[in-house]
Amino acid sequence: MHSMDGATITGEHWRQLADAARVASAHAYCRYSAFRVGAAVLSSTGAIARGCNVENASFGLTICAERNAIFRAIADGADRIAALVLYTPTPAPATPCGACRQVLAEFGNDLLPIRCFCDGPDVAMFTLGSLLPHRFALE
Ligand code: THU
Repeated sequence: MHSMDGATITGEHWRQLADAARVASAHAYCRYSAFRVGAAVLSSTGAIARGCNVENASFGLTICAERNAIFRAIADGADRIAALVLYTPTPAPATPCGACRQVLAEFGNDLLPIRCFCDGPDVAMFTLGSLLPHRFALE
């Protein structure tokens, strides 16, 4: 298995992740919020998985782009997430919601700082530890 870690992730990977996140946002099913979120993860297998938010008339059933991408990577055979890029169509970068942070914690012990980009010039970078200190874990 091709293992990904900080040393093997290149600028080209980051560019591909950003492209994938933007493509995913175009696929968002967001008829209630009209907020198109896209995420892309690089998994331990070296594969990139995309995710968009998928809403539901029963609002609480909505899944965020980040969890959609993570679950897709796991379903495709990954067991760890090495990197996550988030795209929102906003002037300033957004950050993953609390639920997505907890799900990231499950698979992202070795996660590189999360990169959040938007329609403005700024790219924000956050370690998972800064977004979710004292996280819950069974271990
Ligand atoms: N959303 C995400 O996809 N990711 C986040 O981190 C925050 C919120 C989605 C959920 C919902 O479809 C819409 O954005 C508005 O909350």
